[in-house]
Amino acid sequence: MQDLIKQAAADLAASSYAIVLTGAGVSTESGVADFRGPKGIWTTNPQAEAQAYQRYERFLNDPVAYWQEMLGTVGTSSNFYRQMREVAPNPGHYAIARLEQLGIIKWTITQNVDGLHEKAGTRNVMHYHGTVEKLRCLSCGSRFSVDEYSLDKLPPLCRCGRPLKYDVVHFKEPIPSDIMDAAESEAMKCDLMLICGTSAVVYPFAALPAMARSRGRGASGVKIIEVNADPTPLTQQGVSDYLIQGKTGEILPLVVDEVERLLPQRRNHD
Ligand code: OAD
Repeated sequence: MQDLIKQAAADLAASSYAIVLTGAGVSTESGVADFRGPKGIWTTNPQAEAQAYQRYERFLNDPVAYWQEMLGTVGTSSNFYRQMREVAPNPGHYAIARLEQLGIIKWTITQNVDGLHEKAGTRNVMHYHGTVEKLRCLSCGSRFSVDEYSLDKLPPLCRCGRPLKYDVVHFKEPIPSDIMDAAESEAMKCDLMLICGTSAVVYPFAALPAMARSRGRGASGVKIIEVNADPTPLTQQGVSDYLIQGKTGEILPLVVDEVERLLPQRRNHD
C-alpha cells in the first residue's frame, strides 16, 4: 500500500489537469451511510431502495406527497436530507480540498448530495446527483438555496410558478444537462482521474471513467487511480490503472503529505 500511495502522489504531482470523482464512501467516515457497502442504506434496507425508485414519479404526480415524504411528515424517509446538512467533513474531504489548493485538482465531481466537499474548502465542485442545499425547478432549470424557503407551505414554488423539488437527482430522473455536459467535458480533458469511495455501478456517472480511458494510456493518455474500500467493476475490468484499497479518510491525507513532500515549492492557490 505504501508503494501505491507514493505512486499516486508521483502521478498527481506529474499531472497537469487532474480531476476527482467521488461517491458515498468518502462520507462514511463523517457518519453518512453509503448505499452498497456492508452498512449501506440499500444493503441494510432493500425496501428503502424500492421506495427511492418511486420518488421521481411521486414528485411528477403529486408534489405535496413528495415533499411530505422528503420532510419526514409521512412515510419512512424521516428528514434524512435535513439531518445530512448537520454533518462535518472528514480528513478525506480536507485532503481533496488541499489538492485543489495546491493547484493539482481542477474539479471535484461528486455523486454525494451532502455538501461536505464545499464545507472542507473545495471550490470547484460539480454535483452530479444534485445537493441537499438547493431546490430545482424541472421546468425552467432554476436552482434556489433551500434556506430561501420555509417549506411550511407545500409544495415550494419556483418564480415561474411550477413546483420545486430537491435539487437531488432521484432514480429514473435525468441528470440535469448542464452538469452532465460539464462532467463529460472534464472527463475528456483531464490527464488524471482520481476516483474515491464509489462502487461505480450507477450510470451515467459510472461511464465517466470509461470515457476518460477511451483516450488511451501512457504519456498521451489518462491515468486513472481508485481509492476505495473494495475493488469495483473499474478495478476488475482494468478501467483504472490501480486501486489503493482502504479508507479514503486515511489514504488521501497520506497521498497529500507525499505530494507536498514532492512539491515543496509549489505555489498555493487562494
Ligand atoms: P455506494 O454505496 O454504491 O458505494 C460506496 C463505495 O465506497 C463502496 O464500494 C464501499 O465499499 C466504499 N466505501 C465505503 N466507505 C469507504 C471509505 N471510508 N473509504 C473508501 N471507500 C469506502 O455509493 P455510490 O457509488 O456513491 O444515487 O452510489 C452511487 C449512487 O447510488 C448514489 O449517488 C445514489 C445511489 O443510489 C442516487 O440516489 C441517484
